[in-house]
Amino acid sequence: MLVTAKELLMEAEKRKCAVGAFNVPNLESLRGVIQAAEMLEVPVIIQHAEVHENLIRLEEIGPVMIHYAKLAKVPVAVHLDHGSSLDACVKAIRMGFTSIMYDASLKDYETNVKETTELVKIAHSVDVSVEAELGEMTNSAIGSGEGRESELGAFGNKDLFTNPDQARSFVASTKVDSLAISFGTVHGKYFTEPELDFQRISAIRSATNNFPLVMHGGSGVSDEDYKLAIDAGIRKINYYTYMNLAAGTAVKMEASKRQNKELFFDALALKATAAIKENICGALRIFNHL
Ligand code: 13P
Repeated sequence: MLVTAKELLMEAEKRKCAVGAFNVPNLESLRGVIQAAEMLEVPVIIQHAEVHENLIRLEEIGPVMIHYAKLAKVPVAVHLDHGSSLDACVKAIRMGFTSIMYDASLKDYETNVKETTELVKIAHSVDVSVEAELGEMTNSAIGSGEGRESELGAFGNKDLFTNPDQARSFVASTKVDSLAISFGTVHGKYFTEPELDFQRISAIRSATNNFPLVMHGGSGVSDEDYKLAIDAGIRKINYYTYMNLAAGTAVKMEASKRQNKELFFDALALKATAAIKENICGALRIFNHL
């Protein structure tokens, strides 16, 4: 069942849990995510990131994502992740996406407010939800391919974290539906244990009157840290790198078992789907307090 992200975030707020939001740049991940959500009977967000256009283009995967969302036995929102331009966001809206992220977080604050506000007006006129980002999230350089390349340990740089007072004005001015914040996570693989600033989440929540906050770089975080982040007010968790790694590991194992024997690709695709499903079930159980 296709729904907006706003509906899922409101429900997550009531249940004090977080909606899992998964990037799906191939059929294996799309099917793995939907199968996991249906098995656990929880809603999910499936998303296409603009940085994954090199893997598959929005024109190819977008309609398939919408089709799977409509067929699903659980509520599913279809979201554009890190939309970088008005054109990309409008293209996704026209295609039938029910949610978009407009990411102008690397632009100056005033430009971020101005451009995000324009997009909110367009999106809300056709009942599409909008996520924006404030503060700067870095990138561990391996894995998701998102964000700005950075040196390891950049997630310790609190100067880049979201400022609670700025978050209050941003949310009030732009009228977005959710806000991605920077508090210590990074996109891609973690090389050292992330040090998350839970106080920062709580401060932003109280400054914004309990606004739904989004964690990016969500895969690879410990179960304990997910729980603390959700307790502090995270309501959507973006997750990709570690489900992708789980599929890679499963494929590698299957291929190594078949050395000197013929190897058919469809067997690998099924192993990848099953590994993604299992990895996502683990995440969804924590996010939904199951
Ligand atoms: P990871 O790939 O680090 O899990 O991050 C996903 C993400 O934040 C998508 O926007």
